[in-house]
Amino acid sequence: MNIPKKLYIETYGCQMNFSDSEIVGAIMKENNFDITFDKKEADVIFINTCSIRDNAEQRVRKRLLELRSLKKTKKDLIIGVLGCMAERLKEQLIEEEKIVDIIAGPDAYRNLPQLLSSVKSGNKAINVLLSVEETYADISPVKYDSNGVNAFISIMRGCENFCSYCVVPYTRGKERSRNAETIINEAKELFEKGFREITLLGQNVNSYIWKSGEELVNFTNLIEKVALIDPLLRVRFATSHPKDIPDELLFTIAKYDNICKAIHLPVQSGSNHILELMNRKYTREYYMSRIEAIKKIIPDCAISTDLIAGFCSESEENHIDTLSLMEWAKFDFVFMFNYSERPNTAAAKKLKDDVPEEIKLKRLQQIIVLQQKLSKESNNSDIGKTFKVLVESISKKSTEHMSGRNSQNKMVIFPKINNKPGDYVNVRITKCTAATLIGEIVE
Ligand code: SAH
Ligand code: SF4
Ligand code: F3S
Repeated sequence: MNIPKKLYIETYGCQMNFSDSEIVGAIMKENNFDITFDKKEADVIFINTCSIRDNAEQRVRKRLLELRSLKKTKKDLIIGVLGCMAERLKEQLIEEEKIVDIIAGPDAYRNLPQLLSSVKSGNKAINVLLSVEETYADISPVKYDSNGVNAFISIMRGCENFCSYCVVPYTRGKERSRNAETIINEAKELFEKGFREITLLGQNVNSYIWKSGEELVNFTNLIEKVALIDPLLRVRFATSHPKDIPDELLFTIAKYDNICKAIHLPVQSGSNHILELMNRKYTREYYMSRIEAIKKIIPDCAISTDLIAGFCSESEENHIDTLSLMEWAKFDFVFMFNYSERPNTAAAKKLKDDVPEEIKLKRLQQIIVLQQKLSKESNNSDIGKTFKVLVESISKKSTEHMSGRNSQNKMVIFPKINNKPGDYVNVRITKCTAATLIGEIVE
């Protein structure tokens, strides 16, 4: 019998990258590899990378530096760089990072076994071809690093929105949706295996579209099909683009108890001038009208967003527009970033990265402080309420407690009494921090 070789995978970046690593795990398993969590015993190390901001790339460079000593002691060790940084830098990465043997872009993972074989004959191997149709629809991901409760399913790949600051359309290629039937089947299988929450993933899930015979499946139809699998299966999704989040979807979210009441709607900036330069294709007023629609149709919905501080030409007034939008929307949670110019994007070519670093940092800090206040207020208003919580794991801080999340995606801590991951419990909130709700189990 052929003894399986050992593969170690490290993943950076967004949930889609983590979901891709599970696909890579499946492809490698088919080719006689087992996953290991100890890189010292690995025959192959894959680093699945992110290019979204410069610091994401720097983190990977540092990791590659650390791997040098391991490669010195283990001459046969093969190191591959996968994902967005592989796609962005192509051959250049092999020239700059001598320990790298394989470069594989996000659409080239089926080719990994061949790339490995060609490395064994002493070559370096590269495949960075982007595809217009690859969705890995037939591959059943290997959930090698899972809590057995939460799972992701990629429903589409690529992005064609070309926000001027963003590298994703270049690293992930054209937008394409995955066969709806394979998504439903994967969700059913996961539910049967005991998973209780599925997040449907794509850069812009609202443009999901699949033609199945006579039937046209859009995102609203798809999420409804997943919700109907079983009332005990929760459904989430990320990410929506504000330019197309239709009322039809909001009504469907409101209709089903098991579609989570949490919408992530990245706004990026509160200033119309900046939104236009970012090529976001909506205005502050339009964004506000969508938030109003969410609050009207799904009154208990949590709303989160992404914000970029210090984009090209951002004035103090533009920045204040962002702060005032935050106050108005009362976001429950925000991912906050400093603008980082990415080579070859429209912003890099046409606009000047002219906000000084210390101003970017100062504005980001103001955004963080304001959001902390808003998150704390949002959590305070939950004290006294009772939520249905999906139990995920033992609390990090105390073995006497469990942690899970409510429908609004807020982390909830409660005593470990007769409950285990995958169960639903009702928790009455008694206190909170800016990041967590704490409570007691009620019937
Ligand atoms: N597809 C999603 C976002 C994907 S990237 C959407 O359009 O909403 C996640 C977040 O990273 C973005 O929402 C944005 O806030 C941030 N981001 C993207 N490019 C960036 C850059 N060049 N500098 C700083 N932040 C960036
Ligand atoms: Fe990037 Fe914009 Fe596409 Fe999101 S929608 S991935 S920010 S280009
Ligand atoms: Fe990063 Fe690529 Fe995701 S750039 S955020 S890993 S799509």
